[in-house]
Amino acid sequence: MPEITLAQAAPHIRHGSNIGQPLTRRDGVLKVTGGARYAADHHPTGMLHAVLAVSSIARGRVNFLHVPAAKGHPGVVEVMTPENRPSLAEDPDAKTTPFMFRLDLLQNDGVRYAGQPIAVVIAETLEAATEAAALLSPRYEAEPARIGLDRNDSFIPPALSGLGLPPEVRHGDVEAGLAAAEHRIEAIYETQAQYHNAMEPHAIVAAWDGDRLTVDTPSQGLAWAQERIAGLFGIPPENILIRSPFLGGGFGSKGMISGPQVLGILAARLVGRPVKLVLRREQMYGPVGHRAPTRQTLRLGADRQGALTAIHHHMLTATSSFDDFFEPSVQVSHTLYASPAIATTAEAVRLDTGTPLFMRAPGEASGSIALESAIDEMAHAIGMDPLEFRLKNYAEVEPISGKPFSSKALRECYAQGAARFGWAGRPLAPRQMRDENGLLVGWGLGTATFPATMFQGQARAVLRRDGTGLVELGAQDMGQGAWTALAQIAADSLGLDLDQLEFRAGSSDLPDAGIAGGSSHTATAGMAIHGAGADVIAKLAELAMGDERSPLFGANNAGVLARGGRLIRRDDESRGESYADILARSSLAEIEGRGSAGGDPFAQKPYAMYAHGAVFAEVKVDPELGQIRATRLVGAFAAGTIINPRLVRSQYYGGMIWGVSFALHEHAVMDRRSGRTLNANLAEYHVPVNVDVPSLEALLIDEQDPHVNALGIKGVGEIGITGTAGAVANAVWHATGIRVRRFPIRIDDLVMSASD
Ligand code: MOS
Repeated sequence: MPEITLAQAAPHIRHGSNIGQPLTRRDGVLKVTGGARYAADHHPTGMLHAVLAVSSIARGRVNFLHVPAAKGHPGVVEVMTPENRPSLAEDPDAKTTPFMFRLDLLQNDGVRYAGQPIAVVIAETLEAATEAAALLSPRYEAEPARIGLDRNDSFIPPALSGLGLPPEVRHGDVEAGLAAAEHRIEAIYETQAQYHNAMEPHAIVAAWDGDRLTVDTPSQGLAWAQERIAGLFGIPPENILIRSPFLGGGFGSKGMISGPQVLGILAARLVGRPVKLVLRREQMYGPVGHRAPTRQTLRLGADRQGALTAIHHHMLTATSSFDDFFEPSVQVSHTLYASPAIATTAEAVRLDTGTPLFMRAPGEASGSIALESAIDEMAHAIGMDPLEFRLKNYAEVEPISGKPFSSKALRECYAQGAARFGWAGRPLAPRQMRDENGLLVGWGLGTATFPATMFQGQARAVLRRDGTGLVELGAQDMGQGAWTALAQIAADSLGLDLDQLEFRAGSSDLPDAGIAGGSSHTATAGMAIHGAGADVIAKLAELAMGDERSPLFGANNAGVLARGGRLIRRDDESRGESYADILARSSLAEIEGRGSAGGDPFAQKPYAMYAHGAVFAEVKVDPELGQIRATRLVGAFAAGTIINPRLVRSQYYGGMIWGVSFALHEHAVMDRRSGRTLNANLAEYHVPVNVDVPSLEALLIDEQDPHVNALGIKGVGEIGITGTAGAVANAVWHATGIRVRRFPIRIDDLVMSASD
């Protein structure tokens, strides 16, 4: 049999007719017509409604629940408490891998944070369950809540983000670099706790059939969720079917199955009927993750010419009292700017909050608003244009590791972004520009970056005798457009048109496609699809090339193209044969291929692999009222191969809007006495609405990366937030001359500073 390598079998991949096309979302019509079924849209026969009762204290014990009152309420079927909660095969506090979070599943009467589930009421109607939950009237033995970063019991976290990133990194001699510097700045930047606030709350419909379980629930990681549930309930993973065709956003909070979702499954177990459990908005401020607050100290030194001599990035963050997730804010300082000396250090405190979690560029977002602010402060101290200063300190190789970048078109991002924005006209000094209405105008810049990562994933591809194809994998569409982008890769990998392709995803009975997180899904799932397509095409080519009746007989190995449902000889493109004919002659109804992608995403690699970008922001500030509006954003991003420019732009816009949100809006306010989030609702927890979203432009900068993966795909999901938050903050300084180092920047920061 001739041997065909992957690249030989699918050389058409980079030049396919689908990859690169700005197709609209294939699921768009379904969504706007209400035809797309989300988890909470399911109502299996006999379904009951479950409602959580949650703790109003942050630490202590529940010592009374009025269960009889709740149970006596009309329509109530059962009340689940630690007393009668079905047993689990695994301790919810056990942790055997870093990607496993300790869950609150009514294991005892302890309370570890405000908003922790303490009981579940199950009733015939949502109203009955809600009313009965209020009748539980819990009483507590409360201890004082440990809230706020100012504590005297901080410690060095074992590993940042819980994933093995070292809490301390030292390269060169930072103190010597600072001592020798002509210019030095030292500043402290604070970021607040933030909550993911996906539009769709965590929701689950769970139905048991003996030892088999079917759940409809949004998940960014079907296989992880399946494994965790299997472990908790002591059943084989294949007994569990998780359907998650659409997510109404996740932002990291649906990366792992959460406690409330498992409580829904437990409730269904307890009553022996299907159960639906949907979190209310305020119940999402606790058990489903958040971004921890940070306090970051940046010390920078630069020589007379503006070259950095030292970067020290220190962070203090918080985690829960019972688990380990540490927002890895300092990671950006390892990669963004060249400096002979770089040190990053970390410190953490334990608070009585839910465990923090990955959220929208975890680490990069919080770290880059601090670093980009400090870089801006240094440029000003030196008297250099902020763009010129960044170019002066451009990292040609990754600064600490010394590794070459697999590709890095950041210079082009700076150049094209600046040109499009009109950066050249920017006055160096702040508070120089006004618009026609007398509003202060400021322009700021931020560098964007995010690692290009892949997780492990698999896919299956089939070609059928009727000329159609099938690609299936457990990929997750959380609104980013996976149904479309992955189908485009699938069609090209099989040499078919999109309308000849059946594409299945979003279900745990399909090959595990890894997680939709870490901006890695298109690369992971895309490469698995690419591999599956190449495998099935190679098998088909073997059938044809070894058969003297085929026009492909004797074609040399390098010479087969798959295009338009046909295999074509490369040495003579007029000679080819349709898939259907090959299969028919071989008496096969279909032929199947498998592909896999990824490896250990945290393993050492010979290249530093990142997407990059530059974001230019304009803000306007009312000089009397301090009101801030982000009025114009231009982002220029380089992220390797662009599968679908329309969707990628949309991803960048989303990230940029979250960047505006980080700089100006989002802030979970904790009541220091009770440990409760005071603004646990979308009226008071501000996220940008249309009026807050400026004119947005995202430029797609050409970049070909031969190293990240065979398709050259980097991620686009999270990078937008990273440059934008700093750009907006820097623009506020440029507009007002007031440097605010606590984010989000508020009206009071500007008004009070202006008047003192
Ligand atoms: Mo994202 S925070 O990797 O879902």
